[in-house]
Amino acid sequence: MSISLVILAAGQGSRMQSDLPKVLHPLASVPLLVHAMRAGRVLEPQRVVIVVGHGAEQVAHVVAQEDDQAEIVVQDQQLGTAHAVAQARDALADAAGDVVVLYGDTPFIGARTLEALCAARTEFDIVVLGFHAADPGRYGRLVADGNRLERIVEFKDATEAERQIPLCNSGVICAGRARLFDLIAQVGNDNAAGEYYLTDIIALARAQGLSAGLVICDEAETLGINTRAELAAAEAAFQASARARALEDGVTLQAPDTVIFAQDTVIGRDSIVEPYVVFGPDVTVESGAHIRAFSHLEGAHVSRGAVVGPYARLRPGAELAEDVRVGNFVEIKNAQLGEGAKVNHLSYVGDADIGARANLGAGTVTCNYDGVFKHRTEIGEGAFIGSSTMLVAPVRVGADALTASGSVITSDVPEGALALGRASQTNKPGLGKRLMGRLRAQKAALKKD
Ligand code: UD1
Ligand code: CA
Repeated sequence: MSISLVILAAGQGSRMQSDLPKVLHPLASVPLLVHAMRAGRVLEPQRVVIVVGHGAEQVAHVVAQEDDQAEIVVQDQQLGTAHAVAQARDALADAAGDVVVLYGDTPFIGARTLEALCAARTEFDIVVLGFHAADPGRYGRLVADGNRLERIVEFKDATEAERQIPLCNSGVICAGRARLFDLIAQVGNDNAAGEYYLTDIIALARAQGLSAGLVICDEAETLGINTRAELAAAEAAFQASARARALEDGVTLQAPDTVIFAQDTVIGRDSIVEPYVVFGPDVTVESGAHIRAFSHLEGAHVSRGAVVGPYARLRPGAELAEDVRVGNFVEIKNAQLGEGAKVNHLSYVGDADIGARANLGAGTVTCNYDGVFKHRTEIGEGAFIGSSTMLVAPVRVGADALTASGSVITSDVPEGALALGRASQTNKPGLGKRLMGRLRAQKAALKKD
């Protein structure tokens, strides 16, 4: 069955007290909306339509970065969830199969839940995802008989008796495309909020002899974010489950509570992660790597047997081959380090290709930026870069070449050569001692005055 996704992301989220649209607030380093988009991917949707409104341009930009096939439709005024879904009607005019509606502020919907929702369509014309709420609060209530749904009543419109129903509406819904838009066209706004409620399509469908069913999921999956406090709680919940998953997958976390994961962090088994490590987006650590304390990684790939940190920073484009060593106070950006290469102390390596087994001494800096353009540094296999070498890019150091400590390397170094790029030293016999003597005598004279 072919599926189209409609993700609602037009709301302002005024309770966030933010200039940033709610769905762009990051959770586990990734915008909330991107969580919903990635969750929906399990359905292999033919079409993805995002309904935007508040901060439309900003939201559309993030959508395009995540999925350049996703379509954007704009809901100028937020007149309710049915009105929001209706904005996708034209975009999906020629789509076959079913439509699944997700919310951009609901990041934890699970793969199996979405599959179960769609599978239930063989039994029902419309399927709604519900949950048993610990505190049903202001959620819409599901009036159901077993797994047959009769109608959904919004909290504002519910009677006292209906408010006692613990079964709540997640907002996630699946129906045939033509039928969904047909029912939505019949929804009015004569209710307590004066909004076009998507939830009204259930009673409309039942009145027309159609069937509606329920799939129940865990409340944690339907957690929607409306406030900063809820965002913080969701972040904590995400981190707790990411840590548990890493441990289950055979990763050693010495102090799990101090390690921060991103939504897409991948760590291979038998890796060791020491305390206070932060994984930003897009990091893959292969099996048997060792990430030492207080390191910060984003957009990086760490191969088997590599050791990173303590106190290392891997920025986007850091590509570490097997058995690489990146030590304390070292920053790597947009650079490939070949097998067994070492950068152990106090260095910046950016826009560079470092050959296998090359050794970069303490304080090596690739001077990659001239203020306007970025330039590359290439270092050949087995090269030895002396401590405190400045490599003024673009520049190339050949395989097995050496640079003398303190050199400023401004032109290419041939393979196997020694490059000395510093002022040569002269020694003045006895002058050190004489100078010190004179200075001490001056100080003594001052004290007497
Ligand atoms: C909705 C459901 C309620 C359910 C709850 C679950 C309706 C009428 N009610 O209520 O039954 O229990 O979600 O969280 O559907 N949105 C738009 N455009 C609009 C209105 C909303 O894009 O015009 C988006 C919002 O940004 C949000 C989502 O749709 O992401 C849900 O809207 P919201 O106003 O939060 O609905 P609730 O009142 O929470
Ligand atoms: Ca809500």
